[in-house]
Amino acid sequence: MLSQKTALPIIPYPNEVVLQAGQFTLSPQTKIVVKNDAFKNDVDIFNDYLEKNYGFKLEITDNIIKTGNFISFSYPDFEAGFYENYHLDINPARIHIVAEGKGAGAFYALQTLIQLIPSQEIKSLKTAPQKTFILPCVSIKDRPSYTWRGMHLDVCRHFFPTSFIKKYIDIIAMYKFNTFHWHLTEDQGWRIEIKKYPKLTSVGAWRNGTMIGKYRDQKYDTIRYGGFYTQEEIKEIVAYASARHITVVPEIEMPGHSLAAIAAYPWLSCTGKKQEVAKGWGVFDDVYCTKDSVFNFLQGVLDEVIALFPGKYIHIGGDECPKTRWKTCANCQKRIKELGLKDEHELQSYFITRMEKYLNSKGKQIIGWDEILEGGLAPNAAVMSWRGTEGGIAAAKQQHFVVMSPGKPCYFDHYQSKDKTKEPLAIGGYNPLDSVYNYNPTPKILTTKESEFIMGAQANVWTEYILNEKQVEYMAVPRLIALSEVLWTQPEYKNFNNFISRLKINRVILDKMNVNYAKHFLKP
Ligand code: ACM
Ligand code: ZN
Repeated sequence: MLSQKTALPIIPYPNEVVLQAGQFTLSPQTKIVVKNDAFKNDVDIFNDYLEKNYGFKLEITDNIIKTGNFISFSYPDFEAGFYENYHLDINPARIHIVAEGKGAGAFYALQTLIQLIPSQEIKSLKTAPQKTFILPCVSIKDRPSYTWRGMHLDVCRHFFPTSFIKKYIDIIAMYKFNTFHWHLTEDQGWRIEIKKYPKLTSVGAWRNGTMIGKYRDQKYDTIRYGGFYTQEEIKEIVAYASARHITVVPEIEMPGHSLAAIAAYPWLSCTGKKQEVAKGWGVFDDVYCTKDSVFNFLQGVLDEVIALFPGKYIHIGGDECPKTRWKTCANCQKRIKELGLKDEHELQSYFITRMEKYLNSKGKQIIGWDEILEGGLAPNAAVMSWRGTEGGIAAAKQQHFVVMSPGKPCYFDHYQSKDKTKEPLAIGGYNPLDSVYNYNPTPKILTTKESEFIMGAQANVWTEYILNEKQVEYMAVPRLIALSEVLWTQPEYKNFNNFISRLKINRVILDKMNVNYAKHFLKP
């Protein structure tokens, strides 16, 4: 059990910490010894952080240093599956990091090191020059509990420029997340340039107004709103994330939540009627038709998406698809008859399975919201469980991989305080910090074997009511920091009160990064 006195201000807390006697002095005289390029990129990001926040960089050398004050690395071949593990040893003369050469471990060790600086800063501000930091001697052996440690961002309801996407990635990288789920297409806007279908962005990225205030008031402004990422910008973000050991999972929604695409190309729907990009929130009846031309279109879109995102998973949405249009569409009904399907749910299953086949043929796996269970799960699909955990449990029992993301407590667009009058308008719900911290992604009902299909968890930041960058930060932080510990730290080392005391020190980092985090945890 973590004790208040001995815990270091590290989040997520490492899984093996042995405090030792003595101290290491980190200063501008400290050198970094890297013998080859294995960790050059990780070291550069560490050095950029020091320079940005403390005004100095460490000298990098490839000469072996016998004495003095230095940070060194070794990189044995770890077993496959241990690419995120690291050892961090701080001795009076030397900091030594052991990690797999191709993996994320060295990056994580350096994040841990960064987090050891602020407490010293708080204590020593008045007594020591700010460029010298006393670090405790310690031996840390660390590894994550889960392989999918995800944060999502909806850039469709409200749009955020690449500068903010990079900041978001910086924040989640600090807490050892490894997955950024980028929700790129929606009823209210299509946000990714597709060269084969230019109207997706020239038309689909823009709406002629936006719902303002509470949903029940049904009020709209008339301001043209939108934006999109060029393929060059997407590549830049994917590379930026990759340098921080984060995989970007793009979400291209189908068959529902597709009004922006239908506004661009009306023939994608069952009726072919002209539509507007949605201005309000909700679920819309016009969805992709199941005729062949729609599959050809989606394959063309996905060809370009595949070329941009090197990760294994493509998120195909699959949630909240009304069957209203399919029920009266000659093309869709013909499809049901020809395939001998029972109903429109089986038609949705056909849709997803057909797209899965295509993506599998290109070496990709699909992940979708838990509605993809309805009418039968596509053979290789992973499931993101959002309507509670039942979908995730059902999928794991069918030996499909699962990411847990239940509304309670993983929807960070929900309120974080009981007193809603003091909070910015949100979509509803109540997910306070401790509910996130105490979440266990592995349902007790699963057997040990079934539990192995739970890849991890993810929090979602839907932006209907989140209007700007500051508000994203307010809703996401510090709840994402609590989630990081859920995903990384073994339950026996977790303790909410201890987490809060570490967070009170750790927030120096958030202040330095100019993050507008919610401050409820500072109140007694
Ligand atoms: C969702 O929140 N509709 C996945
Ligand atoms: Zn149709």
